[in-house]
Amino acid sequence: VNGQKKVEQIPQSLTLQEGDNVTLECNFSFIENSLQWFKQDPQEGIVSLFVLTIGMKKKGRLGTSINSKEGHSFLNITNSKPEDSGIYLCAVE
Ligand SMILES: *[C@@H]1O[C@H](CO)[C@@H](O)[C@H](O)[C@H]1NC(C)=O
Ligand SMILES: *[C@@H]1O[C@H](CO)[C@@H](O)[C@H](O)[C@H]1NC(C)=O
Ligand SMILES: *[C@@H]1O[C@H](CO)[C@@H](O)[C@H](O)[C@H]1NC(C)=O
Repeated sequence: VNGQKKVEQIPQSLTLQEGDNVTLECNFSFIENSLQWFKQDPQEGIVSLFVLTIGMKKKGRLGTSINSKEGHSFLNITNSKPEDSGIYLCAVE
């Protein structure tokens, strides 16, 4: 990532109650190909959650969407559970 290809994640950290719905946001200034959301899991290491080029995807309690024009993507977690804790990362290709 350099100055021209900026990627920003919001919020940087967050504490929740079990059952909360969460929205993580990733803003980027430039996208060539796809955006990927990862989770860094204490047990499993880095796990790819979604690869997204357009529109939205769902997987169980997780949902994601991207708006390439406006330069942002959401990762939503519905009804959060203790196993959702970890570090979430987004990467733009
Ligand atoms: C989370 O979202 C689900 C589905 O949209 C909804 O049924 C539930 O009430 C929400 N939970 C909270 C804590 O807002
Ligand atoms: C991220 O993008 C959203 C939607 O375009 C915008 O409302 C928000 O201010 C942006 N956040 C930052 C830190 O740039
Ligand atoms: C995720 O949450 C945001 C903000 O609440 C909402 O605008 C968006 O439609 C949701 N996306 C998905 C895939 O659930």
